[in-house]
Amino acid sequence: MQIKDKKVLIIGGGSKIASAIAKRLLEQGATIILQYRNHKPIINKVKLLQVDLQEEKDCENLISSYLKLESSGPDIFINCIGDFSYKHFKDLTFQEFKQIIDSNLYIAFNLCKLILPLMKEKKEARILHFGYSGANILEAKPSILPYHISKIGVSLLTKTIAQTYAPNILANCLCLGIAENNDFDFSNKIPLARPVKLEEIAEAVEFLIKSDYITATDFYLDGGFRPTYS
Ligand SMILES: NC(=O)c1ccc[n+]([C@@H]2O[C@H](COP(=O)([O-])OP(=O)(O)OC[C@H]3O[C@@H](n4cnc5c(N)ncnc54)[C@H](OP(=O)(O)O)[C@@H]3O)[C@@H](O)[C@H]2O)c1
Repeated sequence: MQIKDKKVLIIGGGSKIASAIAKRLLEQGATIILQYRNHKPIINKVKLLQVDLQEEKDCENLISSYLKLESSGPDIFINCIGDFSYKHFKDLTFQEFKQIIDSNLYIAFNLCKLILPLMKEKKEARILHFGYSGANILEAKPSILPYHISKIGVSLLTKTIAQTYAPNILANCLCLGIAENNDFDFSNKIPLARPVKLEEIAEAVEFLIKSDYITATDFYLDGGFRPTYS
């Protein structure tokens, strides 16, 4: 799929990862619509929508605001939202558990349900979610339980969309290990001994969007982190 002249809706636009992706796709000639909540992205030539997406109604508001800007649905939807928490299961409250699932999984579900009807008539379209490569080992990690659960959910949601909407909508999950915007330094746990650069994430996003044959995939961009994750 060519990126030039495609409409791209990116949510979680306040994140550095989203900015790097937006810049790369702008260079390819795409129209970019960025949703953000608190952190306003500083990028020229993008259209901005400020919306909190916590509730189902908020997601509906985003889509109606998007449709006031654009005459048709996005060709490409990229979800960069996904809060993280590090707290042991023994101390975790239901509200804290729910907040992580809401941020990573429910927003993804709600927005896909709203966007897919706008996308399904297109000859070609793409959906991209972010996963966490460590979650895919399917082992108990008491300090990051809700994050793991939500990222496994995102992966299954993505594969379900890919299966349901093939062949015109291709959906993939880009599973990171540790990115350079991460506050934790896990370099000693990564075989390639460094976090992934933002430009490398944007490069992988471009690769996945351009591919006409990759779908329903957990695509690992983790420097070898997952097999050694323990
Ligand atoms: N960074 C890593 O090392 C890493 C590793 C593995 C996976 N990932 C995944 O990659 C994706 C991007 O990560 P990141 O590090 O760029 O994340 P980030 O810096 O924490 O940004 C996430 C964005 O999500 C937005 N957000 C959260 N809840 C929201 C809500 N209810 N409504 C609207 N916006 C909301 C925040 O908006 P505001 O700031 O405007 O409030 C924030 O800009 C996430 O899915 C993350 O889980 C990241």
